[in-house]
Amino acid sequence: MGREFLELFEGWASDYDSTVSGHDLEYKEVFQDYEKILKEVAGRAGQNVIEFGVGTGNLTAVLLHAGKKVYGIEPSGAMRQKAAEKLPDAELHNGDFLEFPKPAFPIDAIVSTYAFHHLTDEEKDQAVGVYGTMLAKGGKIVFADTVFKDRDAYQAKIREARSRQFISLARDLETEYYTTHAVMRSLFSKHGFAVSFSQMNPFVWIMEAVKQQ
Ligand SMILES: C[S@@+](CC[C@H](N)C(=O)[O-])C[C@H]1O[C@@H](n2cnc3c(N)ncnc32)[C@H](O)[C@@H]1O
Repeated sequence: MGREFLELFEGWASDYDSTVSGHDLEYKEVFQDYEKILKEVAGRAGQNVIEFGVGTGNLTAVLLHAGKKVYGIEPSGAMRQKAAEKLPDAELHNGDFLEFPKPAFPIDAIVSTYAFHHLTDEEKDQAVGVYGTMLAKGGKIVFADTVFKDRDAYQAKIREARSRQFISLARDLETEYYTTHAVMRSLFSKHGFAVSFSQMNPFVWIMEAVKQQ
């Protein structure tokens, strides 16, 4: 579910890695400190991890390099193929944040970078509810994504993108399901998680949610 943006990723897979390395001016700030963000997410995750929205496998590579067991989920066939070329031994499955084959081993962390905003707030709530049933006390959700302190901060970024003639970025901010800290805090709390936010660049925050019971 939340697969309405998939076509975009089927087309983007071949040059996605050039965007994350800062070659697309419109997205330069979004991907500022990309490698640092991936390392920070991996460093906060436990040993047995589900990763959603694997893309071309960049976070997967950092997780595997850190010696973690990774069960990757990615709905785009083109993205999965790119990731498999880079990481032939990685375990990658077709699925999404809400509908995915369950791993046969117990997991202690659920991670994702630059992907959770493809779900509406209602779907985010549903997904965190499911993850709450999969994690034991102390288990973590560690997501890095564009999220805004409040609606004013969100609108200000759209205005800024427009004034800089960043047409694709402005359209992206207006059409995908970016949300606010208050929404994320409330849905994590509803499902028994305590969450903290760390800002990584002008758009991206790491949300680390720890299961309380
Ligand atoms: C911007 S890319 C991020 C890729 C990678 N995680 C990274 O940090 O570079 C977003 C990824 O999320 C995937 N995606 C889109 N909708 C999704 C959904 N509903 N569930 C899981 N992944 C989704 C896309 O196919 C794409 O690979």
